[in-house]
Amino acid sequence: MTTAALAGRGDLAQPLHTIDVSDPALYQQDIWQPLFARLRREAPVHYCPESRFGPYWSVTRYNDIMTVELDHATYSSQLGGIQVEDQPADMKRASFIRMDPPRHTAQRKTVAPVAAPVNLASYETTIRERTRSVLDALPRNESFDWVDKVSIELTTMMLATLFDFPWEDRRKLTYWSDVAICNVAAPDAPVHSEEERFAELLRMADVFKGLWKERAKSTAKLDLISMMAYSEGTRDMPEMEFVGNLALLIVGGNDTTRNSMSGGLLALSQNPDELVKLRANPGLVPSLVAETIRYQTPVIHMRRTATRDAELCGQRIRQGDKVVMWYVSGNRDESVIESPDDFIVDRKKPRQHLSYGAGIHRCVGDRLADLQLRILWEEVLARDLQIEVVGPPKRLYSNFIRGIRKLPVRVAA
Ligand code: HEM
Repeated sequence: MTTAALAGRGDLAQPLHTIDVSDPALYQQDIWQPLFARLRREAPVHYCPESRFGPYWSVTRYNDIMTVELDHATYSSQLGGIQVEDQPADMKRASFIRMDPPRHTAQRKTVAPVAAPVNLASYETTIRERTRSVLDALPRNESFDWVDKVSIELTTMMLATLFDFPWEDRRKLTYWSDVAICNVAAPDAPVHSEEERFAELLRMADVFKGLWKERAKSTAKLDLISMMAYSEGTRDMPEMEFVGNLALLIVGGNDTTRNSMSGGLLALSQNPDELVKLRANPGLVPSLVAETIRYQTPVIHMRRTATRDAELCGQRIRQGDKVVMWYVSGNRDESVIESPDDFIVDRKKPRQHLSYGAGIHRCVGDRLADLQLRILWEEVLARDLQIEVVGPPKRLYSNFIRGIRKLPVRVAA
């Protein structure tokens, strides 16, 4: 029986070596918490000898995850990629999140300014206006899907701005993001094989290549395509790297923030006392945002590959081993975070979490994500919107993105 099936029926006495936390069903059913609590307690660096993705190590405690993050010379992103599941050898999509220095350094430098403080200030007015009009247009006294009408709408608009992408086609960005991250085995996935995924991503690349050619001819602008077309580190990129970097930016800027918008609403509806605190003190919004990102943990894991033999928490890691950092677990590590399973909008240290990673690959879009979420909650509070979650969330079948696909809600008139 699979780990998810055993966990689903509450059987936590499973022999340690048979625990396989890579099973996407654990996250779709949202039943991963007790398993990781056990690993943190009994086998914080745990070896799974057999899974559908091959053998792998799980790093489950906050401080050990930090050790792996900060030692990129031992734990490579380039050797085997960033997910427990390997990309098929003939369909590898290189992007700088899958690179080690020095290539990583050059490409990251090109893209990072898009979310630098000076640009964020210029986005704030636009984000606020859009957020206001999306909230004002929501149906009243009838149920609708928050994910579609708010989370997807707002994050897709943001992404279209970052790329200066044709506005009327912006939902294509959402579609490509779903294609890039979906588990092709899930019945509701937008594509059902790696070949189909690859073909869609090549179609995406064609659209972007057209835009790239146009931008390369005109004067330099601040959108991501222009930045990549002009910068020395990226302008002569091979096609597969171009596809990979686009997919990285689309998923990075889209899925994660989208799921934080949905996860925050769900957490507040499950913790009404926290909502009362927030309404009484809207100054808590930045802290709510950080807590939401910790509690939701939109990226479930990142994987590294050992470049040499190493020791981690008393375990012998061999050169070539897969090492998986489970952020969902590190963010619930009771030895570092107080009452980690509780959602608390006025935590003492709300930014102490691993959701954005750490070290040389730490998320480049963290401030932009924070900004979008802060504005959303400021505007919800300013309107005193009474939002009721009226049904269970439908979660994504994935061990990589902790996603909410649907969240039915009703807003009082
Ligand atoms: C709540 C929202 C977000 C979360 C939770 C998140 C999470 C992450 C994580 C976990 C990593 C890898 C860190 C590591 O390996 O140490 C990452 C990297 C990255 N993120 Fe985000 N992200 C978010 C929003 C964004 C946004 C809005 C953008 C783009 C505008 C973005 C772009 C990127 C890029 C380009 C990387 C690769 C960085 C590198 O390899 O150097 N992310 N993000």
